[in-house]
Amino acid sequence: MIADPSSCSNFHEIVITHIDLDWDVDFESKRIAGSAELHVNALKRTDKLVLDGNQLVLKGFSHDDKPLNFSVDKNDLFGEKITVDIGAIDEGQERKIKVQYTTGESASALQFLDKELTKDKELPFLFSQCQSIHARSIVPCMDTPGIKQSYSAKVSVPSLFTCLMSAVGEGSEVNGDKTTYTFKQPVPIPAYLLAIVAGRLEKKVISDRCAVWAEPSVVDSAAYEFADTEKMLKAAEDLAGPYVWGRYDLVVLPPSFPFGGMENPCLTFVTPSLLAGDRSLANVVAHEIAHSWTGNLVTNATWEHFWLNEGFTVFLERKIMGRLYGEGHRQFAALTGYEDNLLPCIHDQFNPCHPYTKLITDLKNVDPDDSYSVVPYEKGSAFLMYIEQQIGSNERFEQFLKAYLAKFKYQAVTTDMWKACLEEFFADKKAVLDNIDFHKWLNDPGVPPNKPQYDETLVEACRKLAKKWVDGSDADVNAITKDDFTTMTSAEKVKVLQCIRTAGPLSTYKLEALDRTYSLLSSRNCEIKFAWLQIAVKARWSQVLPAALQFVTTYGRLKYLRPLYRNLFSWPEARNQAIAQFQQNIPSMHPISVQVIKRLM
Ligand code: BES
Ligand code: ZN
Repeated sequence: MIADPSSCSNFHEIVITHIDLDWDVDFESKRIAGSAELHVNALKRTDKLVLDGNQLVLKGFSHDDKPLNFSVDKNDLFGEKITVDIGAIDEGQERKIKVQYTTGESASALQFLDKELTKDKELPFLFSQCQSIHARSIVPCMDTPGIKQSYSAKVSVPSLFTCLMSAVGEGSEVNGDKTTYTFKQPVPIPAYLLAIVAGRLEKKVISDRCAVWAEPSVVDSAAYEFADTEKMLKAAEDLAGPYVWGRYDLVVLPPSFPFGGMENPCLTFVTPSLLAGDRSLANVVAHEIAHSWTGNLVTNATWEHFWLNEGFTVFLERKIMGRLYGEGHRQFAALTGYEDNLLPCIHDQFNPCHPYTKLITDLKNVDPDDSYSVVPYEKGSAFLMYIEQQIGSNERFEQFLKAYLAKFKYQAVTTDMWKACLEEFFADKKAVLDNIDFHKWLNDPGVPPNKPQYDETLVEACRKLAKKWVDGSDADVNAITKDDFTTMTSAEKVKVLQCIRTAGPLSTYKLEALDRTYSLLSSRNCEIKFAWLQIAVKARWSQVLPAALQFVTTYGRLKYLRPLYRNLFSWPEARNQAIAQFQQNIPSMHPISVQVIKRLM
């Protein structure tokens, strides 16, 4: 087993194989109180269990009801190191260690929202976000993706609430004003996939194994938006092998959820900003479905190999979308991912020498939330697409993908393990593989050494329209009507805007004309609004400032917050207002987002 710089647990000596949770969710104190029984198995003789924690209020550890001594040491960046004296335990022996505890005053994995911050404003809401290293703030655990355990849980919530977890629900029981829900996750999972949500939630069935959960007033629109879920799941199974998790449900969270989607097993969490009304953002669901194999079944052993989770998932996401909507769609998505996400990230957000632009990162003393970027997603998926093209057969590469997933299912992998598997599978293509500069792709910062080839058919029209705006005279742009734009798909509209952005700042005259002609801020697709705000903010067009501040207040996705706040903070005219807006928003923001944005100021 390899070392994980993000965890101080002693998983090399002893591992957790199962966690049994008994939780009570208290919306008054905004804490979870209860116990966890950790089933441990010694890999070698030891007398200590070292766990990760973060601001937990520990009441005591015990074994067979006999208290155990424990100590807590500060670990500045990553919380606390909890050492429990469990008594000598021999290699191969099992033991059940119980801990009574309460989550801290503001557990980094949890957001308790007052009812005013929900859609229907009827009940408060709770959701968790454990990836990458926040599970330790809700349970003392081995918070490394290299260790997998099954779990079971009993969770009490006030009776009006519905509680869901990243597991299969086994029913509920009413006890007075509380309801206790029972869950089972029989498949061993890494701690970061532990998840809970509680609120006023209603369910709408999509298929035998898929349903959408959301607040009552949005559940119908959510079911419409995600109607293709079962089709995507079938395409994914065809590409990746059997779906082992039983159910695939989705839950729509409040807008402060910091991500587009989170692949919690059995229950993907999604942002309400995906509800564009036209299914145009459903690729996020394809992405989270893909994680059921790449990430949840075959897991990166440490966050330094995060690209094995996200690069593979983006690759598989686009394969799924390609199966549903055609290879052209896949090519378009891959090309825009490379040109509009990866390259600007390497050149603008970082620089081509920045260590975070490496595929394999060094996370010693680095919080994974800080190093998070599109690099593992887009450089990683570009690498796989490049290899696929060098192999010269999509069918064979898809066979490899299946073989890789079958070989490492239920395990955790490093990049070396993946590479060895690739070399073994393509033993007949040794010369082709020898020609690929693995070292540069994996270990060097900056732009990849090779660019995959993309079919550019679908982007031509986007480039042409963008060129009109960029190269045209004021009179020319005045003559542009909205028609060419309105008939495009949302993804094409975003591409037009990205091409305009790449060309450099537009004059104020053109910015005004663009805004007027396409009414971009009235779009229901947040990617379009975001792409436009990026253009206007980067051009430092003061008229857009109120809309930009409104956007960062309405949408909680870090994908939008991080670049927008960064650009607003570095714009002298906007800086003070942006800081004031941020400070005003903090009480309603997610703790992870607050942390990330604070570090940008
Ligand atoms: N697992 C990630 C979200 C994540 C990553 C949370 C790292 C915390 C730490 C999820 O699958 C994801 O990648 N979401 C993307 C979806 C997009 C790439 C389609 C997002 O939120 O934007
Ligand atoms: Zn992902």
